[in-house]
Amino acid sequence: MKITDFYNYRKPGPRISMITAYDYTLASVAAESAADCVLVGDSLAMVMHGHPSTIAATPDLMALHTAAVARAVKDKLLVTDIPFFATRKGLASAMETVEKLARAGAQAVKIEGLDGHADIISHVITSDIPVMGHLGLTPQALNRLGGYRTQGRDKASAEKLAAQALELEKLGCFALVLECVPGELAERVTRSLSIPVIGIGAGPSTDGQVLVMQDMLGLYGQPPSFVKKYLDGRRLVKEALDAFDSEVKGGAFPPEPSGHGRPDARPYALAEEERP
Ligand code: KIV
Repeated sequence: MKITDFYNYRKPGPRISMITAYDYTLASVAAESAADCVLVGDSLAMVMHGHPSTIAATPDLMALHTAAVARAVKDKLLVTDIPFFATRKGLASAMETVEKLARAGAQAVKIEGLDGHADIISHVITSDIPVMGHLGLTPQALNRLGGYRTQGRDKASAEKLAAQALELEKLGCFALVLECVPGELAERVTRSLSIPVIGIGAGPSTDGQVLVMQDMLGLYGQPPSFVKKYLDGRRLVKEALDAFDSEVKGGAFPPEPSGHGRPDARPYALAEEERP
């Protein structure tokens, strides 16, 4: 899926699947998969670096991971999150970040929220960098929100969110992520916009869905309740590691050489004569 497919998106179009990737190895799997587009989310601060929130993500960290993902993802839209503070420190800081991410391979950026930085979103878009909006639970605002809670439950906040969604479309965003809002509100916003709305924890009525790859593979901690685990990855990886440990200790790995040939020449295999 390319950015032009988003521009040409007509509702009700085919549903869009977006998946996060942060490193070359899993990004290369995403590249081979049918998933439509790849997001280098600032959730990498938590998932890859063990921080308690996304607030720890920096422009350099986002650019480093974007470059690794971009080496693998060639034929899908690659979107990267603008991390916390980059937009809050003003236009110059935002544009420096956008430059770092674009040079690292991002084709578009995602910017959380709208209050206080509508002008920045507009400037980035008119600078020819497509912007994906993000409303609802915006994890960078964790300290204001007071926790990872469903947003837009009461009338006033639902109205504000619906109005902001329209404003983001007006500013020129090519798509909108809607995170953790009631299904009815997600449906209303999806109907009111002509750009595609990609939901996470926002029910089934949006134009697409996004998940954190390590959540859906069952690799990272206890995922939120709306996540579907497509793999019991943590158990499977642990079982593989335990099997390795037990075979090393029991002498079953590595096996005795069966012939007289050299071990195969994989990059990490040392040839016999190179062994100390
Ligand atoms: O940072 C992230 O991974 C995200 C998605 C959950 C939408 O913003």
